Parts: sequence; structure tokens; C-alpha cells
Amino acid sequence: MTAKIFDQNTMPFLESLIAEKHRSQTSFHMPGHKGTLPPHPLLLEFLGGNVHPADLVEINGIIDYLHSPKGALLEAQQLAAQAYGADVTFFLINGSTVGNVAAVMSCARDGDKVIMPRASHRSVYGGVVLSGATPVYVPPIYQPEVGFPLATDTKIVEKLLAENSGVTAIHITSPNYYGYMSDTATIADMAHAHHAAMLVDEAHGSHLHFHAGLPQSATQLGTDMVIQSTHKTQSALTQASMLHCNDNGNINIARVGQMLALLQSSSPSSPLLASLDAARMLMATQGHDMLDKPLQLAHAARDAIRQLPGLWCYGDDLVGSYGIYTFDPMKLVIRVSDMGYSGFVFYDKLRDEHGIDGEFADLKHVIFSVTIGDTEQSIHKLLTALKAIAAEKPAERAQIPEVPLPTELPKMALSPRDAYFAQSKIVPLAQSIGEICAENIIPYPPGIPLIVPGEIIEKPYLDYLAFIRSQGGGVVGPEDKTLATVRVVAK
Ligand SMILES: Cc1ncc(COP(=O)(O)O)c(C=O)c1O
Repeated sequence: MTAKIFDQNTMPFLESLIAEKHRSQTSFHMPGHKGTLPPHPLLLEFLGGNVHPADLVEINGIIDYLHSPKGALLEAQQLAAQAYGADVTFFLINGSTVGNVAAVMSCARDGDKVIMPRASHRSVYGGVVLSGATPVYVPPIYQPEVGFPLATDTKIVEKLLAENSGVTAIHITSPNYYGYMSDTATIADMAHAHHAAMLVDEAHGSHLHFHAGLPQSATQLGTDMVIQSTHKTQSALTQASMLHCNDNGNINIARVGQMLALLQSSSPSSPLLASLDAARMLMATQGHDMLDKPLQLAHAARDAIRQLPGLWCYGDDLVGSYGIYTFDPMKLVIRVSDMGYSGFVFYDKLRDEHGIDGEFADLKHVIFSVTIGDTEQSIHKLLTALKAIAAEKPAERAQIPEVPLPTELPKMALSPRDAYFAQSKIVPLAQSIGEICAENIIPYPPGIPLIVPGEIIEKPYLDYLAFIRSQGGGVVGPEDKTLATVRVVAK
């Protein structure tokens, strides 16, 4: 094999960013500011056209310090707590990712049980590995039309609580990536009746608290911790997020701060933190007005898309089954498979032929995130593109495979932490049956861990992996990206 030649004069990442900037795509994905919403004038004044002078750091107590805030940052976090309906707010510079890890670590020690949906974000798994908690999974019950578990069913949580002693926390995701939400208030009551803390990954719901036409934020539903990616649906810079705590006596808020100090950089970025302050100010002072129009546009778009031949936009039609309690109308989940397109092909068509980027695609759908960054023009552009595609006859109808989902979760032989840190070895994937997996194996779609560290590899899971890959799906998690081999616990 010839060695790759590196040209130290190139800046491939920076160059790819500049190329993308010049394409001027219309965005229906994160971040919420979409690159078109101007920063708040004060933030603009601060950043100017020159980021370097704005990249200030804590020095001699002049700039307040995230890990021991005493002045401006303390006040900014207090303002955020009030604005988002919490008692205490922590600013995060490593996304909801660090929020989820810290939330789990602050509530669970080695061997404690944490109830969590199998379809949780990988950061929740990170919290489980780092804390040593034993996960008790809410199994993925796939909503048949969408092909993904959309919410956490209260009855299943009740059953798991009855079957398991020593549960110290319940961690759910609501809304999920598709905008569907669980009955968080009921699950919080159940958690507290069992002296467990109620943690909610609201990464996709930081805007919810600011408009009565949206479902209530989990901060208002009797929960203990709520983690929000302020960058996903508001105007904060990418990574800038918040962790809100309610002081209900179920969590140790000081310990949450300690965990964040352990996990986050000791050089927090001022621009990120400043963008949180500005995002909060905007939402607190003008949130309703800023959300009102995009919300109306999202409702109108949903109705319009439902009239287009071959397309369907989900909404309240899914509420009331599969644990779905409500939904965020600002997510447009469009089924394109009736037209014969896979979500991936449709996504690429929108991007390449119409200059529109969706949030993400799966086998049958393309998902669009409408935010305060949207206008009549952006929604008009989306609808015009959808109409144009709906009017076309696809040259060749794609075959959308039905994925034979595994019916049972693998058996857990070790806790994820024990497996993750155990002595391990690499074996060929084909010879791994019966071994204890030491890494995550997450097929995309649907992005739900198939096997996590500590679980026993069985043939049906390997068959499923082979099927997903034969359909062009990817797998993330394993060290060996080709998946010819897998890391297992050395016995
Ligand atoms: C449900 C959910 N939780 C957490 C995260 C992590 O959020 P962040 O990107 O802010 O770290 C994501 C990211 O996509 C997510 O979808």
C-alpha cells in the first residue's frame, strides 16, 4: 500500500466549510439560526466580523468563569433558569451530550439502575458507562408507519419500576428526533413514587417553553433535570446548550455542577457562552412573537403537504398510540416512500436539484426542522420544491425494503462499564457469536444500538446487521469501520 501524502499547506476542513457556505442552501436543519437569522445586535457587536478579539478567556477574574461563576455568568445562568422555568441552570459548552452524561453520573453510582429507552442518544449510554450504572431498557416498540420508537410508554415504565428495585433515575428523550413526545408528567410522578430522579433529554425542545401553541417543556412537568440543545432550535451557536435543574429534593444540584466541571473543558469558549445569553434574552423577551409566525407556517405547511400526491406529513394522527402523548408541530416529518422514493434519495434530490437541506432522512421519510430562523420565503421554497417533486413521475420506482427488526434485546452479561473497561480482544465478526461485546454497534437507520458493551452477540443480530448493510445502511460504534472484526471481552 502506498503511503498517503499529506500537504501541510491545505486546510481541508476550513475549505469544505467555505465551499458549503458559498452554496447558499436553504436549511431545514440545525442550528436554529440557520446561518441567515442575524445575531442579536449586541452579539454582533461582540463578535463583529472578527472572531479572534471576541474569543476572550477568563483571566484575573475579569471575565467570569464557567466552573465557579460569581458575576456575569452566574447572573446569566440565573436569568436563564427563570426564563426556561427552572430553579438552577448550567450553561454547557459541549452540547446536550455533556448534559446527558453529567445528569446520569450525578444520579447513579456503580450498580445503580437507570431506566432508559433503548433508543436513547449515545450520550446517555456514555453516562451509563462512566457512572457504572446498570441500564434497564425500555425496549424499542417501533411505531409501524414510521419504523422508529417515537415515545416512552408509561405502562412499560410502570412495569419496569415494579420489576426492578434500586432504580435511582429514569432518563427519557422527549421530544425525540421526529418531534414526538412522551407523557413526561406521569413518568415523573412514577419516578418520584420510587424515589428515583426524573431526567429528560429535551435536546430538540429548547423552544417549547416560549409559546402556548407548543407542548409544555419538561421543566414544567415535575421533572428534576432537563437537558436542552439551545443551538438546535434557537439561535445559540453550535454546541451551546443548557442543563436545567428543579430543586424538588430528588437530585443533588451541587453534584451536577461537580460532574460538569469534571467533564467540560477548563477553557470554556466565551462566544459559545455569550450566544446562550443572547438566545435566552431573545426568547425571554420576544420568544412568543418570534415563534408565532414560524409555528403558523409549520401548521400551514403540514396541511399543504398533506394535499400533495404521494406525500404525507405526520402530526396528531400518531398521537395516542405507542406511548405518544403529543408532538412538536415545528418538526415536519414527511413520508416520501409512497412516491417510490427512499428518504435518502428524496433528501439528495432536494439538496441537489432544489437547494434545500432537510434535517435528516430515514428509509421512508425526510424530516425538516422549522425554527425561529424560518420565514414565508423559506417555507414557500420548501413547498414549491415538494410540489415540483410530487408532480414528477419518478423514473424508476425505488424498492423500499421492510426491515425485519430484531424482536428481543440481547442478553446483558456485564454492565456496559465493566465490559467497556475489561481486557478485550479483536475477533472476526463471523466468529463472535456467544462472545460478550466490548463496543457499541449501532446500525443506521434506525440509529438504535443493536448491541452495547456487555451484551452477548447472537446470530440473529449478526443477520440483522448483514441485512442493514446489504441495503446500504451504515454502522457506527465499532473500532473496525469495515466490521470485519469486532472487539469482545477477553475471557
Ligand atoms: C436526542 C438527542 N439527545 C442529545 C443529543 C446531543 O446533543 P448535542 O449535539 O447538543 O450534544 C442529540 C443530538 O443530535 C439528540 O438528538
